[in-house]
Amino acid sequence: MAQRWTTAWITGASTGIGRELALRLAAQGVRVAASARSKAKLEDLTAQDPNIVAVAVDVTNREDVAAAHARIVRELGPIDLAILNAGVWDPMGAGDFDAARAARSMAVNYGGIANALEPLLPAMITRRRGHVALVASVAGYRGLPDAAAYAPSKAAVISLAEVLRPDLARHGVTVSLVNPGFVETPMTAVNTFPMPFIVSADVAAKHILRGLETQRFEIAFPWQTVSGLKVLRALPYAVYFPIVQRWLLRR
Ligand SMILES: NC(=O)c1ccc[n+]([C@@H]2O[C@H](COP(=O)([O-])OP(=O)(O)OC[C@H]3O[C@@H](n4cnc5c(N)ncnc54)[C@H](OP(=O)(O)O)[C@@H]3O)[C@@H](O)[C@H]2O)c1
Repeated sequence: MAQRWTTAWITGASTGIGRELALRLAAQGVRVAASARSKAKLEDLTAQDPNIVAVAVDVTNREDVAAAHARIVRELGPIDLAILNAGVWDPMGAGDFDAARAARSMAVNYGGIANALEPLLPAMITRRRGHVALVASVAGYRGLPDAAAYAPSKAAVISLAEVLRPDLARHGVTVSLVNPGFVETPMTAVNTFPMPFIVSADVAAKHILRGLETQRFEIAFPWQTVSGLKVLRALPYAVYFPIVQRWLLRR
């Protein structure tokens, strides 16, 4: 595989997709800064590969994220690749709508990305070099049942990536958007509903790295889930809502 990056920062690296990405990049010789809140899990990860450095941070704290960025630049050098992947899934419908939970999902899934971009982008623009990958979800394509907290936060990330890609291209900085379908991780372990076409975190990491290597904008997988949801996204509301309502009635 062609080596594009010397240094990478991955948020949400303590488990699941982020952890797999950290291990794969480190195995290729990339110096990886791995961030999450859990210090113990990050220490376990750094023990797997000397190319991984733990930088514990809560992505919802703007000052702490700026300090984490500064520490990474100091210790590893300028960041070539940032995979902004930290996220939470909090299933919520109309019946249990809770503004605090909705705000919390937004703060982690969208605000965490914004907090990291704030220090990352000026540094990348100055160097005219860098690649940022924003991890959203196919759940951000359209409002889906049980995703009253999650889907809006992921739709916001998709929108942000669309805004940034052409703007940052002028500065030599690449933006990618990662939209996974179901992936087997601690996040989905809580789900009791069927998860069609679910892939392992290892397969997810392979898809993501292949897409990043080619500097693709949208990296979405698996194709079955992506194409199904893209068809749903294209439907007019008059067709879309009856489908969702029929599905809700059948549960
Ligand atoms: N699994 C799926 O089916 C699926 C599908 C579509 C999109 N995604 C997205 O993919 C990304 C990774 O998810 P995953 O499946 O790998 O889930 P996961 O195993 O639960 O990992 C989530 C990561 O985010 C970190 N995190 C959560 N809140 C944080 C905070 N406030 N500050 C810093 N780190 C925080 C967690 O670490 P700590 O708890 O230690 O902080 C963990 O490392 C998420 O953005 C998710 O929405 C997942």
